[in-house]
Amino acid sequence: MESQSLSQRGSWGSKAAFIFAATGSAIGLGNIWRFPMVVGENGGAVFVFVYILAVALIGFSVMLAELVIGRHTQKNPVGAIHSIKPRSPWKGIGYLGMVTGIAILSYYAVLAGMLAGYFVKMISGTFRGTVTSQMTEKTFTDFSSNPFLVLFFFAVVLFITTYIISKGVKGGIERYTKVLMPILFVLIVFLAIRALTLPGAGEGLKFYLKPDFSKLNFKIVFFALGQAFFSLSLGMGTMITYGSYINKKDNLVSSAGWVTFADTFIALLAGLIIFPTLFAIPGISPDSGPSLVFKVFPLIFSKIPGGQIFGMLFFMLLLVAAITSTISLLEVPVAYFVDERKWSRVKAAVLMGLCAAVLGIPSALSWGGVKFLTKWAFWAKVDFIFGNIALAFGALLICLFVGWVWGVKKAVEEIKSGSEKFTIRRIWIFSIKFLSPIAILYVLIKIIIG
Ligand code: TRP
Repeated sequence: MESQSLSQRGSWGSKAAFIFAATGSAIGLGNIWRFPMVVGENGGAVFVFVYILAVALIGFSVMLAELVIGRHTQKNPVGAIHSIKPRSPWKGIGYLGMVTGIAILSYYAVLAGMLAGYFVKMISGTFRGTVTSQMTEKTFTDFSSNPFLVLFFFAVVLFITTYIISKGVKGGIERYTKVLMPILFVLIVFLAIRALTLPGAGEGLKFYLKPDFSKLNFKIVFFALGQAFFSLSLGMGTMITYGSYINKKDNLVSSAGWVTFADTFIALLAGLIIFPTLFAIPGISPDSGPSLVFKVFPLIFSKIPGGQIFGMLFFMLLLVAAITSTISLLEVPVAYFVDERKWSRVKAAVLMGLCAAVLGIPSALSWGGVKFLTKWAFWAKVDFIFGNIALAFGALLICLFVGWVWGVKKAVEEIKSGSEKFTIRRIWIFSIKFLSPIAILYVLIKIIIG
């Protein structure tokens, strides 16, 4: 019986398949759009420094905690926590994660849609000839404030996401991630090299990598932590869900390590493209926020022979990276309805996709399409509440659950299956029981009481 229900849920074909899927979830707009945005808004290199600490000390530990819950129970977040601690309020972690996932998906798919729009722009030759920063600014404003275009591309992205999820884990996620992510990686390295060799790139490099610690403040720590959770897909059960498809023989520690490393590496490279370019071709401010990458990437392509082709390829691959992330956001609630409520995958995928569609409409219109939503920065509010606060809160609960409720002893036992040595056991236990929850609680309390 048990094994039958397992095979109906599907599982990864191999450890490599899991790593590709989890890396696919982690790497996305969080790395290439959101990371440069928050770095630019929070003083540059100081932020980068705090971010790396947050990833290494907290992000990695939370990732391992989520994976271990998932693999131990082989269930969606709600079911997983229920089977460890039946009839307890801790299940709330799962419900909170589902809501958070849909909320993040709603504005994330809008952005992914805008990238699809930029892919089309690259094909149609919008950025042919001389490209200036004034021009990229105007192109972005014209595009993002056209409600029909933004809504159209948003719908396309949600449709693709829902379609892939309705096909299930093995048929869906695995196939799409294996081939395209490595190509994106090579392209990003290439672009970083080009950006670094632009005359005047040095100033940008300084802004990005030479920390001025006198600028360090609490806000930086808060956003660095939020960004770490967002970028690593933590705090809402994605990694519990993905972990639930991992084989008992696989090494969870090295899996978590690899995903954390790859994700951070790509984010750091994205910054190496954006900031040198930005300073070498003046006109765009590092703190221009969410429009930063839309304005800067066309500039770097204009500095490369055959840049239009690279631009096309880049926006296409970025869209693929975004979709491997959107499917992981949708998979969490869908896995719940399939496992716990016995819905069909198709029904669950379609209904959850529709929820994200409805919630995403005001976000899509807050990029210039509708005045009052734009002024209110609707999508940015959703990003702040769900992409920072809710993820941090979810991560806090996961630490407390694993560290104190389920208990690290049992978790360590599960981790040891496939990773007998688990040499960093002590550090992980310290982080999950003390360091991570205290740090998260501290920033949450401080941000909420102001
Ligand atoms: N990590 C993804 C990115 O960087 C976004 C994402 C996917 C996510 N699944 C998530 C963020 C779960 C938080 C939680 O683009």
